[in-house]
Amino acid sequence: KGKRAFIAGVADDNGYGWAIAKALAAAGAEILVGTWVPALNIFESSLRRGKFDESRVLPDGSLMEITKVYPLDAVFDNLEDVPEDIKTNKRYAGSKNWTVQEVAESVKNDFGSIDILVHSLANGPEVTKPLLETSRKGYLAAISASSYSYISLLKYFLPITNPGGSSISLTYIASERIIPGYGGGMSSAKAALESDTQVLAFEAGRKHRVRVNTISAGPLRSRAAKAIGFIDMMIDYSLENAPLQKELSAEEVGNTAAFLASPLASAITGAVIYVDNGLHAMGVGV
Ligand code: NAI
Repeated sequence: KGKRAFIAGVADDNGYGWAIAKALAAAGAEILVGTWVPALNIFESSLRRGKFDESRVLPDGSLMEITKVYPLDAVFDNLEDVPEDIKTNKRYAGSKNWTVQEVAESVKNDFGSIDILVHSLANGPEVTKPLLETSRKGYLAAISASSYSYISLLKYFLPITNPGGSSISLTYIASERIIPGYGGGMSSAKAALESDTQVLAFEAGRKHRVRVNTISAGPLRSRAAKAIGFIDMMIDYSLENAPLQKELSAEEVGNTAAFLASPLASAITGAVIYVDNGLHAMGVGV
């Protein structure tokens, strides 16, 4: 029987979430995605109008099917968390059931269970500011959207994740090495995400026999990365300094996610897996 995956953080065909969806679809999984509410309309209409058809092509020539797109805002666990200005915001009022708990309930009602949970989302409103200039509000917002969002997703999806299932998030080396420019508390958020990966691996492993891993990915020119403003520099830096001097493709991260989600990785949990052409292993640039 085929597996079912829920991938949170897909809103176009440029990011890691899309590439992971494709790799899982190519391996035979059924694909459900969670799309940030403000990006939902444009993503769904682009899908419908065939704007992504070229990037939907799988290795066997068929097109990736997304069985269902769920609106999601991963900074809200349930309706009690949602402030009035968001509730009445035009983009949000047009959709419903987009808090994490409600999305998990909808997936349960629609499909019963999943096997694979992917968290491919991050947000740091002050990412362009150095840590010393980051406000408390900006720092906490980065942690909420980029780290706690994963705890919340896992918490609400674990009860509907089949034993033997697998959960994957995306992290970045700025958690453990200094990457000037990755500010606003985003480096802190990734450090939290990586530490939580270990504790959550223990808790989800013991309680539900679900594995929890994170992929530390190299630089990719996604929409989120372009907003940070230094992505071209990071790609050039990697090309120049990494052991493998080639551009990193999103597909390579997608393939790793498919491996981690498969029985081939049945003893891997609590791990940070580097998919970065080896850049993390360098001590100095040469
Ligand atoms: P992306 O723009 O494709 O994905 C980020 C997604 O997060 C977007 O679809 C956005 O709509 C969604 N999002 C933001 N706030 C949200 C919220 N509150 N609720 C639900 N969705 C929300 O960009 P990318 O770069 O593929 O990011 C995916 C993951 O990969 C992130 O965790 C990112 O930190 C990580 N990553 C990216 C690297 C890069 O160079 N692009 C390098 C290493 C890690």
